[in-house]
Amino acid sequence: MIVLLSGVLVVLRALEREDLIALHKWQNDEEIMRLARSFPDHMISKDALEAEFAKELKGEDTGRRAYIIEEKSTRKPIGWATIRIHQFQRRVTTADVGLALGEKTAWNKGYGTEAAELLLNEVFRQLNLHRAEWWTYAENNLSIQLAKKLGFKEEARLRDAVFFDNGYHDLMVLGLLKQEFESIKAVSETSRGETTVSYLQSP
Ligand SMILES: CC(C)(COP(=O)(O)OP(=O)(O)OC[C@H]1O[C@@H](n2cnc3c(N)ncnc32)[C@H](O)[C@@H]1OP(=O)(O)O)[C@@H](O)C(=O)NCCC(=O)NCCS
Repeated sequence: MIVLLSGVLVVLRALEREDLIALHKWQNDEEIMRLARSFPDHMISKDALEAEFAKELKGEDTGRRAYIIEEKSTRKPIGWATIRIHQFQRRVTTADVGLALGEKTAWNKGYGTEAAELLLNEVFRQLNLHRAEWWTYAENNLSIQLAKKLGFKEEARLRDAVFFDNGYHDLMVLGLLKQEFESIKAVSETSRGETTVSYLQSP
């Protein structure tokens, strides 16, 4: 049995060693990495990736959860996502959520919206955290637009916080509180099917 965070269009599942091949392709794509990491850091070796995700692959990282996003109809991997719990606080209250659709053919089909909703469900209803954060650079309009659609509010603009392409760029920090998420869900769950954790037979 494989545990999935399952929506209508996409499912999220644990990262497996075999996924490093797709991750290697996606994380060597300049456009994806600029958008995903606010830096066009598009050269990473397979060994470096394996080292970065070594703890998750062994289930030893309690602070960061890495997921593969699959298109539900084909079960094809289309991107990755993370929940990164802030561990510098004495009380754990907050997590960063991040996602990237590495397959550009999967863009603009509603997959990113649903994957982000599944992540937020996990952050608030399973991990019982109080706050989610969404970081990106100021020109990443689609990302900011998506975060706002999910209920995030713009909280800070860190001026000249990142440098790439021979220029400084502002970083945007957006935040969503659990009670805000719950009031949005209360409205949306009455009008459409609820996203759930489900258990499917392994293919
Ligand atoms: C940002 C990202 C996750 C959005 O996912 P997506 O599946 O492409 O977006 P969705 O189809 O769910 O659409 C989200 C909104 O953006 C709009 N949108 C998506 N692609 C668009 C495009 N190319 N042009 C204009 N609008 C677009 C959609 O119409 C939708 O708006 P609406 O709800 O008002 O209709 C995805 O594009 C991506 O992975 N980008 C690269 C990495 C990145 O930026 N990650 C976020 C960093 S925090």
